[in-house]
Formats: sequence, C-alpha cells, structure tokens
Amino acid sequence: MRRRLPVHGEQRKHPHLLGIAAAQAVEHYEITRYGTMLAWAKQLGLSQVEDLLKETLAEEESTDELLSELAEDAINPQAA
Ligand SMILES: [Fe+2]
Repeated sequence: MRRRLPVHGEQRKHPHLLGIAAAQAVEHYEITRYGTMLAWAKQLGLSQVEDLLKETLAEEESTDELLSELAEDAINPQAA
C-alpha cells in the first residue's frame, strides 16, 4: 500500500520545496565529507588531491547557495 507524507499549509502552496530541501540535505552531507577529505589531504601532504577537493567543495557550496536562493524565491516570489 502506498502512503503519502502529510502535507501542511506552506508545503501545499510550494510542493517543490520538499525536493529542494532534500537536494540541499544531500549537498550538506557532501560538504561535510569533502571537508573531511580535504583536511586529510592537507595532513598527508597530497597537494594535487587537495586542489581537486577544494574545487569540488566550492562546487558543492555553490550548489547549496543556489538551492537556498531557489527556496527563498519560491517562498517569496517578489524576491525573484
Ligand atoms: Fe552535490
């Protein structure tokens, strides 16, 4: 049997916010993992790995900021 998640007032008005929130949770997880691996690379003196992880971490942070903007714009269309 298929069950639906309960939908509350604001979620009903902005159903895509759940998807944005889920994507943002993934980004936050990735940011923590890449941050840890970056610290390890620094400790181990792996400069090439460090450079690649810095670049990847910056991409994840940029995606997180974009998702925040999408969510804020969805809630407040006048901000878009
Ligand atoms: Fe990501």
